[in-house]
Amino acid sequence: MTDKRKFISIDPNEAPLKDVHNLLLGGVAPRPIALVSTISEDGRNNLAPFSFFNAFGANPPYVVFSPSLSGRDGSAKDTLVNIQKIPECVIQVVPHELVEQISLASTAYGPEVDEFIKSGFTAIESDSVRPKRVLESPFHMECQVEQIIPLGGKPGSGNLVLCRVIKFHIAEHLLQDGIIYPDSIDLVGRNSGNFYTRASGAAIFRVNKPVGIGVGIDQLPDHIKASTILSANNLGQLGSVLRIPESGEVDAYFASLRATEGSGQESESEQYWQLYLDGEKLMDTDELKAKELIEISAAKALALNDIQFALFALLSIGL
Ligand SMILES: Cc1cc2nc3c(=O)[nH]c(=O)nc-3n(C[C@H](O)[C@H](O)[C@H](O)COP(=O)(O)O)c2cc1C
Repeated sequence: MTDKRKFISIDPNEAPLKDVHNLLLGGVAPRPIALVSTISEDGRNNLAPFSFFNAFGANPPYVVFSPSLSGRDGSAKDTLVNIQKIPECVIQVVPHELVEQISLASTAYGPEVDEFIKSGFTAIESDSVRPKRVLESPFHMECQVEQIIPLGGKPGSGNLVLCRVIKFHIAEHLLQDGIIYPDSIDLVGRNSGNFYTRASGAAIFRVNKPVGIGVGIDQLPDHIKASTILSANNLGQLGSVLRIPESGEVDAYFASLRATEGSGQESESEQYWQLYLDGEKLMDTDELKAKELIEISAAKALALNDIQFALFALLSIGL
């Protein structure tokens, strides 16, 4: 079996640049992709994707991306040359339906080539900056480039481009209840090699934000922490509870569940409740099996985010 805790340790000063780059591409992933539009001093459009990119604050809104110097000869990319002269850009996001076009836009065309045309995008005017917007992307940020911070000045070195967003444009249909749903925007992210991630459908899941100050995994009873059935994620859910109930509360909880048994419980919760009852019945004859069934019932409850049931069930086998 693979030992997941065996590490290879690498000093970036001693590893080839390609290996260091590959480590970052695979380990810091998936990365959002900025499709960056700039303009040269003589008015030529330029467009290129950058996945060393993220947002860093909302008041005021800032985003940062990083065009690297060529790993071969240390030369600057057209995007960097352009913003050094005209410190403005438009950053658009990349939905799945545009991924092949943005890949084409990453071709090392010369500065005289307009990647809008090469990659089949429609250039539209911006409100407040000179670089054009990409009509086909559903989300655009017009930006002032406030600072360019060189990160080494050598082949393969990055250049942090600190952009203050001065205007957002968002396709109307994307906004629902004040948020952008992942399935509607269907963004792609960049991983290692030629791999991308599609951030919609089965890739999307919810994690409820912790409410209040959770007790922490360290405060869970030892028999819960030692479970071979509960996952690390399960322990994370249990550690978010605000306090560990007393044994009297455990009895009261199950008494009240028994009282409402069969009176319209949802079928999914009925399943783990039944498992719990099966476990409970076995407690006098086969304690080990009983505890296993109850832990499985707790894990099923946690899969449906019923943390309260899971915690009470697990506490009941530690009493
Ligand atoms: C998805 C994707 C992400 C990329 N991310 C970066 C990046 O973060 N930094 C970088 O220097 N190049 C990145 N590239 C490569 C540039 O897009 C490529 O070098 C491009 O030719 C630069 O264009 P320019 O010379 O017009 O600025 C990426 C390419 C792709 C396809």
